[in-house]
Amino acid sequence: MTAAVTLRGVGYRYPDGTPALHDIDLDVAAGERVAVLGPNGAGKSTLMLHLNGVLVPVSGTVTIHDVELSRKTAREIRRRVGVVFQDPDDQLFMPTVAQDVAFGPANFGVDEGELDARVDEALAAVGMKALADRAPGRLSVGERRRAALATVLSCRPDVLVLDEPSANLDPVARRELAEVLCTLDTTLLLVTHDLPYAARICERAVLLDEGRIVADRPITELLGDTALLAQHRMS
Ligand SMILES: Nc1ncnc2c1ncn2[C@@H]1O[C@H](COP(=O)(O)OP(=O)(O)O)[C@@H](O)[C@H]1O
Ligand SMILES: [Mg+2]
Repeated sequence: MTAAVTLRGVGYRYPDGTPALHDIDLDVAAGERVAVLGPNGAGKSTLMLHLNGVLVPVSGTVTIHDVELSRKTAREIRRRVGVVFQDPDDQLFMPTVAQDVAFGPANFGVDEGELDARVDEALAAVGMKALADRAPGRLSVGERRRAALATVLSCRPDVLVLDEPSANLDPVARRELAEVLCTLDTTLLLVTHDLPYAARICERAVLLDEGRIVADRPITELLGDTALLAQHRMS
């Protein structure tokens, strides 16, 4: 199996001294879908920001496929790892959905001729081709979330990371997003509080608390361990 994400001894402390990650070891194979679970303040978002090079570890290494993260490779890592942030409005700022979806690949140097194909492919993947010319502000919350996903898919990432993708979605929009995520064959890391949602999409779960990995198991097994979940404020 090809390794997609390899973390070795990753530690991180914010500039103000707050410790956020301690000695994280994690291996995710290409094509795997892994839920990253944990209570508020566990370090989930901090971990996610290391995967696309927004943060660089204070100790240890982060490797995406064969590229080790450093200040020099951060841009390359950012191209390979697509992050869908919690608030879709962070990723939608152009006059139309199609322009937003073209923005990433254009920025990474994809030429004009290929851009339309990239946009079509990404919008088709999220079931939004018909809304290409819509202003993002005139989409529903669920559509905005899928549009934000398309802005990342158009960069053809090797690894996709989503932070709380089901937050604020109604049941239909949640199901539509889960269906889209399950059709992708990209390596997926899903950061969430929503255990049933994670179980619908992921086969494996990593439980984080106080900046450490406290469990890494098949998700059905982890969700069945009520004592463990209670101990880490997850139920
Ligand atoms: N910019 C920051 N500066 C200082 N401390 C931070 C910052 N962002 C997060 N933290 C702290 O780092 C720890 C992990 O936070 P975070 O990764 O956001 O957790 P989660 O996403 O699991 O809720 C917490 O103690 C949090 O208060
Ligand atoms: Mg967070």
